[in-house]
Amino acid sequence: MNTNTLKAELSQHLPSFPKLQQHRQQWQSSLAELFADNPDRARQMTLEMGPILLDYSKSHLTEDTLSLLLQLTREAGLEQAIKALLNGESVNNTEDRPAWHSLLRAGSSLTREGADVEETQKKMAAFVEQVHSGNWKGYENDTITDVVNIGIGGSDLGPRMVCKALCDYHQQPVKVHFVANIDGAEIFHTLKNLNPKTTLFIVASKSFTTLETLENATTARQWMLDAGCAEDQLQHHFVAISTNLAKATAFGINSDNIFPMWDWVGGRYSLWSAIGLPIALAVGWEHFQQLLAGAGAMDDHFAEAPFEANMPVLLALLTFWYSQCWGAQSQAVLPYCHQLQRLPDYMQQLDMESLGKCVNREGTPVDYPTGIAIWGTEESNGQHSFHQLFHQGTAMIPVDFIATLKPNHPHQGQHRQLLGCCLSQSQALLAGKSLQRAEQELRDEGRSEDDIQRLASHKVIPGNRPSNTLLLDRLTPNSLGSLIALYEHKVYVLSVLLNINAYDQWGVELGKQLGVQIDKALVSGELPDSWDSSTKGLAERILGG
Ligand code: F6P
Repeated sequence: MNTNTLKAELSQHLPSFPKLQQHRQQWQSSLAELFADNPDRARQMTLEMGPILLDYSKSHLTEDTLSLLLQLTREAGLEQAIKALLNGESVNNTEDRPAWHSLLRAGSSLTREGADVEETQKKMAAFVEQVHSGNWKGYENDTITDVVNIGIGGSDLGPRMVCKALCDYHQQPVKVHFVANIDGAEIFHTLKNLNPKTTLFIVASKSFTTLETLENATTARQWMLDAGCAEDQLQHHFVAISTNLAKATAFGINSDNIFPMWDWVGGRYSLWSAIGLPIALAVGWEHFQQLLAGAGAMDDHFAEAPFEANMPVLLALLTFWYSQCWGAQSQAVLPYCHQLQRLPDYMQQLDMESLGKCVNREGTPVDYPTGIAIWGTEESNGQHSFHQLFHQGTAMIPVDFIATLKPNHPHQGQHRQLLGCCLSQSQALLAGKSLQRAEQELRDEGRSEDDIQRLASHKVIPGNRPSNTLLLDRLTPNSLGSLIALYEHKVYVLSVLLNINAYDQWGVELGKQLGVQIDKALVSGELPDSWDSSTKGLAERILGG
């Protein structure tokens, strides 16, 4: 498949796209040459926004490239699209609703929605105060020591990631736990050391129909009853967050203990809403407000900065350039920060559930790549796991390195070494190791000429591989809020360039539907003849035990 002829759809949406393709076909410069030709390159390609510095100079990017990419933003109508997003217009065209997560951190009640947000935040703050002050009592009048958030996807990944990231801010009397997986092992191991009398459950589900969440909530309910909590006392141990008040109350949760969500906030964009309740319980209301403020600052930057100095736009343009013209099939997000260990998990849903689409906004199948795989792990662990593939593999995998200038711990020497590891990897990706250098190293080791000829080529590292480096001053609620919003908006910009809807997720429905049918068959033992022989054979094995 000649990718140069394909992408007719994209060229219709972005008439200048063929010029970018031609620019790629004529590409000659290596990263090393780009730096040699312009000693001021790094300074010119470093952007600061509040607590975040972005160095995107280790990119296959020239002024001509940027100019061509910026032309595409104009052809895509990006300026108007950003206004539509931030003004609460129905950018989610298949569900005909806004994606107004920015309103959750705008501190504005000028609209009805804004007033609802303000009202809910007051309810959240009061609840947090009740729990922290010990005024929220369990069924035997005990104060709450542990909160268990039961949710999955956007009702888990964001809060779980933020709670881990802000572990240095956990100063409150409650410990927050997370249960998401339908695998009973997670709730079993979470509850086994908790005291039902002092445990409070948050059932977080925008739809309140998600199998995993309802199963775990039912197990939690039974755990309370088995411990001796009377049915009419369960209300002291369950609150809910949902758009579906009817189903939440039907589950048995007191309507006073239900925090509203709205259909104009997507699940993977909802940690700023009441879904963020476990965050506020973990770090305190003030720190949760600082998280919101950090995101709000990035919203303002996104709305106001010219595209050539707009952090979300630049990150999106680079990913667009690599996925459309360099064949990048995935992108790595590597936090050189132990507390950000769950950031890649969160970013996977944010990016892949938003951009993993095969039809454009008009419902026409696309003939170009859309979302690419996002992956990563906390560093420096990955250096001893998969970095070999970055350095000598055959795939071009763009990398976002994320680190903090200052640690939240006293081990300054180790933090300096962590930062050194981060820089070593981006420098190695850029510079690589030549055959001559590999030969000389072997010669310096005293190896024979035969060994040198035999081994040198195995030690060559191609280099010339791109990366971005993001440096946060320090990992704080504010800087984390800005970082998350940065990637939320990067995803949106990509969706506008790709002419796809970032805010629906119809692709997950089929698995859910089949799952219900398969479970029904496993319960009844009657396996449909229509099933493929693999599924049927596996089900028979399961039934056979
Ligand atoms: O199945 C995918 C999904 O709908 C995600 O988009 C969502 O974040 C998750 O499931 C949980 O949904 P809910 O909050 O409605 O339980």
